Order: sequence, then structure tokens, then C-alpha cells
Amino acid sequence: MKLNIALLAGDGIGPEVIDQAVKVSDAIAQKFGHEITWKPALTGAAAIDAVGEPYPDATHEVCKNADAVLFGAIGHPKYDNDPSAPVRPEQGLLKMRKALGLFANVRPTFTFPSLLDKSPLKRERIEGTDLVFLRELTGGIYFGEKGRRDNGDTAFDNCVYTRAEVQRLAKKGFELAMTRSKKLCCVDKANVLETSRLWRETVQAMEKDYPEVTVSYEFVDAVAMRLVQWPNSYDVLITENLFGDILTDEASVISGSMGLMPSASMGAEVSLFEPIHGSYPQATGLNIANPMATVLSAAMMFENFGLMEEGKAMRDAVNKALEAGVVTEDLADGGKAYGTKEVGDWLAANI
Ligand code: IPM
Ligand code: MN
Repeated sequence: MKLNIALLAGDGIGPEVIDQAVKVSDAIAQKFGHEITWKPALTGAAAIDAVGEPYPDATHEVCKNADAVLFGAIGHPKYDNDPSAPVRPEQGLLKMRKALGLFANVRPTFTFPSLLDKSPLKRERIEGTDLVFLRELTGGIYFGEKGRRDNGDTAFDNCVYTRAEVQRLAKKGFELAMTRSKKLCCVDKANVLETSRLWRETVQAMEKDYPEVTVSYEFVDAVAMRLVQWPNSYDVLITENLFGDILTDEASVISGSMGLMPSASMGAEVSLFEPIHGSYPQATGLNIANPMATVLSAAMMFENFGLMEEGKAMRDAVNKALEAGVVTEDLADGGKAYGTKEVGDWLAANI
């Protein structure tokens, strides 16, 4: 297969972990006879520094014309404590999601047998955890009208959802549930929020189209609690943008390291694949960041093209590295810590 991949390394550890994913993907391409053309483009603080905006038109062109986007991370501390900064790297991410129509953010949480004791939760609570959040990504409070009034003393962010937006996300959720254990949890706050009542009513109306799927409806606060009590009781969860942002960070630490969890953002045309850990500025350039989440994101990308064997080969290499202790310092636990690049080299050599 000929693949044309937009490569958005971004900020912080983004470029380092992306380099490793490229290396491992190229090893896959070589082994399975594919041809990947990587098209690098600017995003995030790196793009603000270079051209004054975090998601330049030139980058959008590259993404739109690609078969998929592989994304590192964005964010820089110089913007975090400056609420008055006129342009922020995160605006680029939101603009990109909207412009590319990436409405469904797929964030899995699974455990690795070799890492069960690295989790902050007890082994017996997390064993067998294999869940997926589908987070709505282009609506809700992130994109509603926002502003100030009363001379700046009052601020507001509106949360708006349409039935169509809920339906397209829920449809993906039902379809995913059908390929797994046929359990779907709709996460909302329908006891308080009108948008949540629209979510619940819309999902309820879709149940008849998927008679085999068992749907539960749970409030977001209760889900936050059950996620740390019995994460292995969940399978597919669907939720709106802000709830999904928060719960997927919570879920990501269950596996033992945030540096392991991949994600995909699916649109009607193009889809994007990225690690969920963010730009981790303190580690920038130190060759200590864990590249595995980015490698696993690339595995999701191959699987999304229907290249299941290729994706599996990448996952197997990661599992093998974990078992062999070829890991970065976040997982080394007092043992030998390998560098980002060394882990990448090892994975590529083990494809
Ligand atoms: C994420 C991030 C983003 C979000 C930020 C960087 C805008 O936290 O991808 O989860 O809130 O969606
Ligand atoms: Mn987040």
C-alpha cells in the first residue's frame, strides 16, 4: 500500500517520540512491502514561533491531502501561566480538530500483564481492564460561545450539542461495542444538564437499532469513581467533549504509565493518531520520554487502514520490549532505563 502521512511533531517531547514512531513504521513498511511518504508540517508553539499561528493554512493543506495524520504533542510552558497570551498552541489543536472534522476521539485504556504492579491501583482491581472511551471532539463547551461581560468580571462558556452530533458519535460507539463485548456506557450528567438529557434521549432512541448491545447510562461523577474502583467492569464508553477530556486522563494512568496510551481522532475524511501524554516540557530534548504511546498510535493508524497484521507486529514489539525491560525511566523502576531513541531502535529492530 502507498501511504501518504502528514507528520505533525509539534512541541516538547513531540519530535523525539515521533522520530521513533517513524522509525518503527518504516521498519513495518519495509517488512510488509508498503511505501510511506512522510509529509512534515508545523503545529503548536513551534508553528507560532515560526509563522505566528499554531495551525497554519499550509499545515491544514498537508493534513487534508494526507491519508492520515501522525501527531506528537503541543503545548509550551511559556503560554501556560499567561492567560492573556493572544495566541496559544492549544488553539491550533482545536482549530485542527474542527477543520479536519475529527469528531470522534478514540482513547483506549488497557493493561499490560508485565506492568500490572506499576499501576497506582491494586492489581486485583485492574486485571483484565480493556476499555475504550469515545470522546466527542468537535462540540460542547470547547466550541460554544464564550466571553466576558460586566467589564470582564463575569465569564461564560456555553455548552451546545445538536442531536446530529450526538448521533454520529453514538453510532461509532454502538458499532465499536458490536465488535467487542456489546456493552456500551453513555456517560452524562442528565440529572443537571440539558445537553446531557439530549445525549441520553438520543442514545436511548438508537438502542432499537442495536438490539444486541446492552446500554447503561451513568452520571459522570459516578463514572469517575467507578473507574478507579472497577475499571475492568467497563468496555465502550461514549461521552461529550469535556467529560471525555477529564475521564480519559484519569483512565490513562491505570495502565501504569501515561506514556503508553495511544489515541485516534476519527473524521469523515482523514483521521489523526497521537499519544495522549502531551508535550511533557520538562523532558524535552533529554532523550527520556517514553515513545511507546506514539508507536502504539502508529499501530492504530495501520489498523485503521485495515493493515491488522502490521498493527499487531508493532504491538507485539512493544509487549516484547516491556517484558525484556527495554523501557524508559518512567517504567524502569530502579532498573536500567533506556533512552527514547534506544527504545525506538530496539522496537524497529524487533519488527
Ligand atoms: C487533550 C488535551 C487538549 C484537550 C488540550 C491540549 C486542548 O488535553 O487532547 O485531551 O483538552 O482536548
Ligand atoms: Mn486532555
